Amino acid sequence: MSMDGSPVSSSVKQKLGHLLPGGLGRAMAVLGLLLLLFYVFSFNYPYSQDSASNIYLHFPHKWWASLSGGATTATPTNLSHIVFRVFSSLKMWEARKVYLESWWRPNITRGYLFVDGLTKNESLCPYTCPPILINEDITNWEIYPLIKNPVQVHMVRSIMEVFRQGDQDVRWFVMADDDSVLFLDNIVEVLSKYDHTKYFYLGASSESILSNAYISFGMGFGGGGLALSYPLVAAMSKKLDGYIKRYPNLWSDHLIYMCILDLGVAISQQKGFHQIDLRENIAGFLSSHPQSPLLSLHHFDVVDPIFPSMNRTESNRHLMKAAGVDQSRLLQQTICYQREKNWSISISWGHSAHIYENLLPRHILQMPIETFKPWIWNAKWPKFMFNTRPVKSDPCEAPHWFFFESIESKNKDDVNTTYSRAEKRGLSPCSLGGNHSADHINRIQVFSPAKTRLKVGRVECCDVLSLSDENTTNVRIRPCMEAEAIA
Ligand SMILES: *[C@@H]1O[C@H](CO)[C@@H](O)[C@H](O)[C@H]1NC(C)=O
Ligand SMILES: *[C@@H]1O[C@H](CO)[C@@H](O)[C@H](O)[C@H]1NC(C)=O
Ligand SMILES: *[C@@H]1O[C@H](CO)[C@@H](O)[C@H](O)[C@H]1NC(C)=O
Ligand SMILES: *[C@@H]1O[C@H](CO)[C@@H](O)[C@H](O)[C@H]1NC(C)=O
Ligand SMILES: *[C@@H]1O[C@H](CO)[C@@H](O)[C@H](O)[C@H]1NC(C)=O
Ligand SMILES: *[C@@H]1O[C@H](CO)[C@@H](O)[C@H](O)[C@H]1NC(C)=O
Ligand SMILES: *[C@@H]1O[C@H](CO)[C@@H](O)[C@H](O)[C@H]1NC(C)=O
Ligand SMILES: *[C@@H]1O[C@H](CO)[C@@H](O)[C@H](O)[C@H]1NC(C)=O
Repeated sequence: MSMDGSPVSSSVKQKLGHLLPGGLGRAMAVLGLLLLLFYVFSFNYPYSQDSASNIYLHFPHKWWASLSGGATTATPTNLSHIVFRVFSSLKMWEARKVYLESWWRPNITRGYLFVDGLTKNESLCPYTCPPILINEDITNWEIYPLIKNPVQVHMVRSIMEVFRQGDQDVRWFVMADDDSVLFLDNIVEVLSKYDHTKYFYLGASSESILSNAYISFGMGFGGGGLALSYPLVAAMSKKLDGYIKRYPNLWSDHLIYMCILDLGVAISQQKGFHQIDLRENIAGFLSSHPQSPLLSLHHFDVVDPIFPSMNRTESNRHLMKAAGVDQSRLLQQTICYQREKNWSISISWGHSAHIYENLLPRHILQMPIETFKPWIWNAKWPKFMFNTRPVKSDPCEAPHWFFFESIESKNKDDVNTTYSRAEKRGLSPCSLGGNHSADHINRIQVFSPAKTRLKVGRVECCDVLSLSDENTTNVRIRPCMEAEAIA
């Protein structure tokens, strides 16, 4: 009977745990248990009819352990609780495996790789990749001839095929493509805020309005990454084949979304998952990332390399150098002003930095400069799910661009990232700001604390430090003060 109740009652247990101080002893524990059972019976009945009771048979051990052990709170979610599913194809694999290798941590990250078209279980990269699973054969399905694009069906089914591996102590399944780059520390950080014993569907819309409009604004785009809680995947796994047979030609993300929606679950939008339904130069987008931890970057193989003078592989590795030191600040935008010169400085940590020869307010600087194109080339305004600024040649609005060059973490108390000038701006100085040209600045050094960014829903502040050399600007990132306005 208690199996039915685990999603509700484990959170009740957590609440009770907070109410019961450790020393109150056995009597209180028994009382707590009675209350718990009361809660289970009185509130959970309506939910326990369908498949829920079977789902929780998958982890009775854990359930009993937490009941009898009297642990007050669940342990925090860490990387070992997450199973990843990466999907590729034989055609793309060789070119794209570098992306997976850039974020996969051998022997630490758990998960499976599907390579569509591969027919035997062989090691495509024995030491640096996940083990390979081969999709179950569905060619004998009665409706198989109706399926126009079997890869899409394989992608959907890979979710339940991973589930059926029966791995222990799994709280979340995270899906990604072969050209997605994931940021594991930040994914753990975000997932640990959610109750993995409930149904959760975490993902993000496309950046391009039309992509969402054609399918749904409520759908998570799979290349950007989807995180599904264990019980949700357990429930879906029973239903997916039925959905495939009903809708044999839907795109995989769409089918997954419909199935989840029918289970009564809506998306929890995550601003850090990026489908990157954008084209060409996404530097403007990456320079004004939303105020949220970076979780993924997809379509690495479609957009221009994200660092000038590097190819995609090198760009990927280069970004991961910063990610390896501090993911919490990666692409987080920090803005400060150099008053003596009327300059605005905007840092996107680990990627780029801008100097504007004018004091521009935060509400302008946080809008991406539209250096990129929408997914559907001829889309008309409004094209994107966020506001943008046009690329300008007005010297008071066009930035000097600098890109991440190096990272050092000396003595473990200070992280020093440097950003070097991409090219000459080729404009006269901004006269509104008093003609203080920044043409001679060829490097920006940014110092940030070694400890990870505080997660308090607020950005960090920065100060421009005195010059060490006339052509270098030094900036120190620090927590904002009480009620400090960045203006
Ligand atoms: C993750 O948490 C589990 C407890 O749920 C613990 O046993 C394990 O050691 C932790 N792993 C890491 C890498 O911290
Ligand atoms: C992973 O573990 C296996 C066996 O435990 C070991 O042989 C291998 O060297 C490890 N690989 C890495 C990259 O640590
Ligand atoms: C591949 O085959 C080996 C040997 O049969 C097996 O141990 C392993 O689990 C298989 N890997 C996957 C991912 O199925
Ligand atoms: C990217 O550049 C590196 C170093 O120059 C080179 O080894 C690699 O082959 C290049 N990759 C591609 C896909 O061009
Ligand atoms: C910061 O790093 C750059 C590049 O490695 C180096 O030249 C500079 O001396 C460092 N600055 C400090 C203060 O350590
Ligand atoms: C800036 O330079 C322009 C042209 O060189 C000049 O017209 C203008 O008066 C200057 N502004 C200031 C504030 O010095
Ligand atoms: C900064 O700009 C303001 C307004 O344009 C101007 O009044 C002021 O003199 C400038 N400051 C400097 C240091 O040039
Ligand atoms: C700074 O840059 C200017 C040219 O923009 C150059 O003449 C000068 O020597 C540089 N100063 C230093 C210290 O490198």
